[in-house]
Formats: sequence, structure tokens, C-alpha cells
Amino acid sequence: MIKNILDLSVFTTGNKDNPPVLFIHGFPFDHYMWDEQVKKISRGHYCITYDVRGLGSSPRGDGQFTMESFVDDLENIIDNLSPDKPTLCGLSMGGYISLRAVERMEEKLSALILCDTKSLADTNEGKVNRARGIKQINEEGADKFVEQFISNCFAEKFKRECKVEYETIVNSAKSYDAVGLKGCLLAMAGRTDTTSYLSKISIPTLVICGEEDNLTPPEVMKSMSDKIRNSIFVTIKGAGHLSPVEEPVTVNAEIEKFLNK
Ligand code: MLT
Repeated sequence: MIKNILDLSVFTTGNKDNPPVLFIHGFPFDHYMWDEQVKKISRGHYCITYDVRGLGSSPRGDGQFTMESFVDDLENIIDNLSPDKPTLCGLSMGGYISLRAVERMEEKLSALILCDTKSLADTNEGKVNRARGIKQINEEGADKFVEQFISNCFAEKFKRECKVEYETIVNSAKSYDAVGLKGCLLAMAGRTDTTSYLSKISIPTLVICGEEDNLTPPEVMKSMSDKIRNSIFVTIKGAGHLSPVEEPVTVNAEIEKFLNK
């Protein structure tokens, strides 16, 4: 079912009396990246996905986003749709949103799943790279930026064996509004470092990392997981930065084991 919450496209699947799981996608993707998880997990859970402002079918407005405004959007969705405390499941940029959300409103959440993400803020080099990306979009349009960015996200195996799916993902990202893409880059560049809150997280946490994730590699995610009291760390063989898309069967099994504990 599609709903509109403060202009955002929000999608719900499953029985709303079941425990809620709210998925937040990475950049530059939209809610479709959780399709395989929603298909499986909605059998026993109420699954909520949405398009982060500026991506997919959510409007970009003035394109002036911050990580705080992304968390404001998330909080509105939770307040509107989820009478019970949801499990938050965020990948990469969705993980940045989740980590800041836990810091701001842990009392509204029941558990946390962090996929291919990190608590560290952008380094100076990272910020300069964001600026390069914005310049590239301004000068050449978004297509080449999107192609290069997404190519770094996937392990070679997926690009080789799932060519059609890969092309669909790239083409979908090419259809996003350039102002929305740039707004997300600025929001990520300006986000806070949430590392100091990790040791204070008390809700159960699952940390998932593709073994071949070059953007948020296993050693970075393991070190993050070690700082969270009640945390399980798993790596996914054969996957890069988009582990739920690349290896959905294994990732779904880990998520279901965690949710049903
Ligand atoms: C993502 O997948 O959301 C991005 O790689 C995050 C980032 O660029 O930091």
C-alpha cells in the first residue's frame, strides 16, 4: 500500500498487527532496494519502506537537506504509521539516518539493523569527494556520476551475473532529480559523527557487512559493532556494499534469525 506522509512516498506491506520493521535505503537508490527483504520478512512482520526526500518518488522540494531533516522525516513516518516501536533497518546513508535517529530517539525504537554503514563522519578527503561529485553533476549532468558511484557499490560477481538487475538499478538512479542527488551529498557531508553514542545504545543490534564492501569495509563495521553492547556482527560472503541486494537469501536469513530471537 502506498501512503503519503508529509509529501514522502511511503510503502507498507504485511499485517499491521505484526511487529513493524522500517527499512531506510542507501544513496543513490530508493525503496526498491529492499524488495527481496520485504517479500520474505512481510510474512511475519509489518514492513515499511519509503523514498528518502529527493530520491525515487519523494519530492526534492528546495533540495536543502540535512541529516537532521532526514531524521525529522523518519520520525514523522514512525509517529504516523507505527504504533509499536519499530526495528530500524538502514543501509549506508540509511544507516547514517538510523544511527542519528537512535541517538535522538532510542525510546521510539525496539531494535536496530545496520547494513554496510558506519558511525564515522566524512573525513576531509570524503568531503572533498562529495564536492567533486556535485561539480561533476553540475558540469556533465548526473549520468556519469551515478554510473561511477554505483559501480563502486557492487561486488564484481553481481555486476557479472546479474547484468539486467544491475542495469535497472543504474537506470533508475539516472532518473532521479539532480538537485535531489546533490542535496543528499551535502547532507551526508555535513552529518555528525555518531561514534560516541555507540556504547550507549541499549536496543539489540545486528550489524551486517558484505565481505567485499569497499566503502564501509568489514574491519570498520566490526569495530563499530564491538562498541555496541548488545550487538551481533555478521559478514556476507560474495557481497559488496549492497549486501541485501547482492545476497538476499543470506541477508534475509540473518535478519529473520535476529528478528525472531
Ligand atoms: C550509500 O550507499 O548510501 C552511500 O555509499 C553512502 C555514502 O556515500 O557515504
